[in-house]
Amino acid sequence: MSRSYRFPTDFVWGAATSAYQIEGSPLADGAGPSIWQRFAHTPGMMANGDTGDIACDHYHRYKDDVQLMRALGLKAYRFSIAWGRVLPEGTGRINQKGLDFYSRLVDELLENGIEPNATLFHWDLPAALDDRGGWLNRDSADWFAQYASVVFKALDGRVKLWSTINEPWVVTDGGYLHGALAPGHRNKYEAPIAAHNIMRASGAGIEAYRAVGKHQIGVVFNIEPKYSASDNPKDVAATRRAQAYMNEQFADPALLGSYPSELKDIFEDAWPDFPQDDFSLTQQPVDFVGINYYTRSVVRHDRHAYPLIGKRVYQRNTTHTETGWEVYEQGLKDTLVWFKDRYGNVPIYITENGAAFYDPPVAESDVVQDPLRVDYLRKHLRALHESIEAGVNIKGYYAWSLLDNLEWSLGFSKRFGLYHVDFSTQKRTPKASAKFYANVIQTHGASLDD
Ligand code: BGC
Repeated sequence: MSRSYRFPTDFVWGAATSAYQIEGSPLADGAGPSIWQRFAHTPGMMANGDTGDIACDHYHRYKDDVQLMRALGLKAYRFSIAWGRVLPEGTGRINQKGLDFYSRLVDELLENGIEPNATLFHWDLPAALDDRGGWLNRDSADWFAQYASVVFKALDGRVKLWSTINEPWVVTDGGYLHGALAPGHRNKYEAPIAAHNIMRASGAGIEAYRAVGKHQIGVVFNIEPKYSASDNPKDVAATRRAQAYMNEQFADPALLGSYPSELKDIFEDAWPDFPQDDFSLTQQPVDFVGINYYTRSVVRHDRHAYPLIGKRVYQRNTTHTETGWEVYEQGLKDTLVWFKDRYGNVPIYITENGAAFYDPPVAESDVVQDPLRVDYLRKHLRALHESIEAGVNIKGYYAWSLLDNLEWSLGFSKRFGLYHVDFSTQKRTPKASAKFYANVIQTHGASLDD
């Protein structure tokens, strides 16, 4: 039987990026360094010694990049604001030139009929704040609210969709527990504290928004659903803990005002008792939630794992991306239905979804053929449509990413873009996935039909 994948006509079609991954010129016009600037310049931290010094040079090429968005027919563009461009020391003194960059970008988007969607924090904490303890310092919630207020005052109205924090799990697991991401700590006692403070900061940002803002604000989680490798009770319990650790540790305090009880077992003696009062801050009402979905994980018990969340079991006979992630579109639907069941029918944007695959070299003025990425997008967009049919309140979708960019400590080696970027010349070339996505947007999804 043939199916129709037509999306609502007001569905928001977008693409996403983040500041440090594309802008380049991280210290231009009086900006203060971020923890990523420091980390990337620390020998041994980045693949190939890559840094965000130039990246996609979007800081200078943003007008051309807005034309790429226009060619796709994007309705919205999700970008992040570098905190240190606005407040070089993280608090206090405002750097007007840094704010002006985002003001120009927003104007350019609006002039081209593209709705700006701004994320306040996509991992690039000002280094000056890291020197004061970063997310381990309880004052970080106030620092974030101060910074957010400055940005709201400058851009709210022109920007109508805001997010506080992007992927708090990655910030704390990668930055404070396993050390693969900035600030590069490996400390089991720090991770839950950083996680708690970042959710307090998100709440403080939302509270600040209600004082000055007139539109919508939410928070962005990366949700990776967990499936048990077997019916063995040990595997089932490990799966439950993995779900609590990666997904509920962040969404629960924001949306339920509590933590899942499993976190005590997961972190053992490193789990502190947080003051009950904090939850009125973490649970500030959101207008929407952003969900980033890439893959799932199949979990098997492993008594040596820390935290106590088992280990991922590699799935054979299926496609994996260049980052080693299984392509599993059913996980998107399962995630969205689970989210609705656990947290209610809050409006949702898919704020990131995409894949790194090997892209063949670009011949002059050619289209880069990326059939695996096209297939990934097609499957996930169909699953997204099925989620809407299942009653999940989904407002929009942002492909990750507009451009090939700096994939954090993996450097430029992993390409997620709809547009290929030649990092030696900065030439952008559309991939077949860009054409595919433009067609989906133009037909409201009808081109996905069987
Ligand atoms: C992040 C992006 C990143 C992407 C692919 C997400 O975790 O928000 O910054 O590039 O996934 O790894």
